[in-house]
Amino acid sequence: MNDDAPFQVLHEEDCPRWTGGRIVIYGYGNQGRAQALCLRDGGLPVVVALRPGSPSREPAAADGLTVIEPVEAAKAELLVWAVPDEAMTDAAKGLGTVRAGSSWLFLHGLAPRWGWIEPPETVDILLLAPQGPGAALRSAYASGAGLPAAIAVEHDASGKAHQRLLAYARAIGCARGGLFRTDLAEETVVDHFGEQAVLCGGVPALVRAAWETLVAAGYGPETAYIECLMQLKLLVDLMYKRGVEGMRRAVSPTALFGAREYGAAVIGPETRGRLTDLLKTLESGEFAASWRATSKAGWNDGELTTERDDTFEAAGRRVRRCLRWPGLERSAVEKGRGAG
Ligand SMILES: NC(=O)c1ccc[n+]([C@@H]2O[C@H](COP(=O)([O-])OP(=O)(O)OC[C@H]3O[C@@H](n4cnc5c(N)ncnc54)[C@H](OP(=O)(O)O)[C@@H]3O)[C@@H](O)[C@H]2O)c1
Repeated sequence: MNDDAPFQVLHEEDCPRWTGGRIVIYGYGNQGRAQALCLRDGGLPVVVALRPGSPSREPAAADGLTVIEPVEAAKAELLVWAVPDEAMTDAAKGLGTVRAGSSWLFLHGLAPRWGWIEPPETVDILLLAPQGPGAALRSAYASGAGLPAAIAVEHDASGKAHQRLLAYARAIGCARGGLFRTDLAEETVVDHFGEQAVLCGGVPALVRAAWETLVAAGYGPETAYIECLMQLKLLVDLMYKRGVEGMRRAVSPTALFGAREYGAAVIGPETRGRLTDLLKTLESGEFAASWRATSKAGWNDGELTTERDDTFEAAGRRVRRCLRWPGLERSAVEKGRGAG
């Protein structure tokens, strides 16, 4: 593919301003709070819907936002689903009368894609998937920039679906970063594939396996941790700015030779076959069904608790405590928070 291949992106100048009625953000967590604050700052008519007894009522009110009951939420012109995907079926039960010709906006395709939530025919189905967590969206907005987002109109019942979607994307800053088209099915598969194969599954597993290999052979746990994990950030930053080839140009000839002649074989035909299998579980709905059944049964991530006590994480804590890493403020590290 060459640099001239079409990749159509919409920017702020392509998006109208929001001139419509009330926007309800249902949920005040990671994305809900970030988006509500951007809308508030822009002077848009935004309120937050929260379930009865919600602990988020107080912080939302402290942020200057009006809180309404879910039963009122679907009367809005635009209803933004900012509750976890696996909670949407239950959350939808609390809605009252749905306003015909309104729009429902999802921040991820999962729940509508697999029928966990079934919007009525009379409402638009919109998707705006921010390409990062709520904190990144909010800080980009606050700095005058914006986080890119994938967008889709899946169903246009009102005849105003595109206009509303673009105006909303502009209001939360995403149009400054750029908007690219997708659809519910594509966004759901690609987002989960990326998380599982690379971001949250594959890369952490590779880092850990490499660390375990070194430590089992008698090498120092801290030295191995620094090499396999801490330096990853520096290389990822290079790839983020310049691509993989750009990163390769920035490393030594020795590193380059080793990477090409030896390292690339780590991802061999067996791993590629597993990536294809993983993709099939996402496309077929197998993953979605498994996650739905598991979350219904009450899932808790026991692995996270175990990892807090293991030698890999302990080595990491020593590495972060005893060395001064650029960009890592001590207070943030001590609280166990990342840069996001
Ligand atoms: N997190 C991300 O980085 C990210 C990135 C892109 C897209 N998304 C998408 O954004 C959407 C929201 O995700 P999130 O991570 O922002 O969610 P989240 O932080 O886990 O959402 C928490 C909010 O959802 C409410 N909630 C939970 N269960 C509920 C229920 N059964 N009924 C009513 N309200 C309920 C909570 O209510 P209480 O306050 O009462 O506890 C809280 O206000 C999802 O579709 C997700 O896939 C997330």
